[in-house]
Amino acid sequence: MEKINTALVKTAVSKENFSAEDEANLQLAAAKIKSGELVAFPTETVYGLGGNGLDEDAARKIYAAKGRPSDNPLILHFSDLAMVKKLFGTLPAMAEKLLTAYAPGPITVIVPKTPEIPYTVTGGLETVAIRIPDNDITRELIHLAQVPIAGPSANTSGRPSPTTGQMVYDDLKGRIQMILDGGCCQVGLESTIVDCTGEYPVILRPGAITPEMLQELFPVVKLDAALEDASARPKAPGMKYKHYAPKAPMTLLLGSIEDLKKYFAAEIADFKQTETKLGLFISRELRESLGDAVNSPAVVLYDYGSVKDYSAIATKIYYGLRFFDHQKVGRILGQGIAETGLGLAIMNRLKKAAAGNVVKL
Ligand code: TXA
Ligand code: MG
Repeated sequence: MEKINTALVKTAVSKENFSAEDEANLQLAAAKIKSGELVAFPTETVYGLGGNGLDEDAARKIYAAKGRPSDNPLILHFSDLAMVKKLFGTLPAMAEKLLTAYAPGPITVIVPKTPEIPYTVTGGLETVAIRIPDNDITRELIHLAQVPIAGPSANTSGRPSPTTGQMVYDDLKGRIQMILDGGCCQVGLESTIVDCTGEYPVILRPGAITPEMLQELFPVVKLDAALEDASARPKAPGMKYKHYAPKAPMTLLLGSIEDLKKYFAAEIADFKQTETKLGLFISRELRESLGDAVNSPAVVLYDYGSVKDYSAIATKIYYGLRFFDHQKVGRILGQGIAETGLGLAIMNRLKKAAAGNVVKL
């Protein structure tokens, strides 16, 4: 692939604060999208790698830049519900209800595709994923481009998703022309994907719109079988791939704080530091209960915050997993959390990062 100069362009987060320079950069970014180039964009969940969603060649460029298998479909991003309706006419009632309640926001709905949407975008499927991100920069970009923007997460395939412009730059420099940098993503985990093509909504990927929030709108809400049974084939093709993984192998531990303390203290004491160190991916509570043990020279510590604040943990997950890649860590021990509310999405990503390696104490 030819080497490209990548510009990391800082942009004000809210529309009221866009400077003349921000507006000019957004115009430039929109022109790139229209001419078939790629631009990385911020959202409330994670950064996306965008191209014209109605242009097959742009979609091919996205797969190539990410190194992503082309049977893994892309999400189409719209600026608002009116733009969605312009392309789709009417939407399935379930999808419209979900978007009306939670968009702009961290929700993606799966609906039947329209003829204008290329199969390259849908990975050959008759359905398409659509979403309205809650981010002024990106909604303005889509509005200016006047086309839906196809955008997977802006990481190279298999790596943790990027939640800052710099993380996108680390992965994609030299491969794309422009990254719109809107600072840190507020949610930190990819959107909830809901299949709206059947009788009831089915969650294919958990996210910040939780099953509990969907149950407020629908009497029956199901989870894709693959979320509960690792041997089932996931309906979202992307969920079958190895994902979010740090470079070192990770084990995820579940148990009471007392049992975790005993286990971690013993592992730290037993760890023979050679070339590499032991990474700990743990809560503030566990760090405090381990006391001085975490100060061992063999340990690289990442404290993801209090188990009482799942939203804050979500924003730190990918940053933390990537942090270990920059340290000489040979192995990572992570502390799991309860799978309630946002905990379901957090654990879904952590279990994948640990390649299913979960130990209940
Ligand atoms: O929060 C997000 O959703 C981020 C930001 C950038 O919007 N995007 C994102 O895209 O996570 P990506 O490509 O990394 O993940 C999209 C997921 C994949 O697992 C893919 O298989 C699934 O959505 N998907 C897309 N179209 C689908 C379809 N028609 N049916 C089932 N799953 C689909
Ligand atoms: Mg992704």
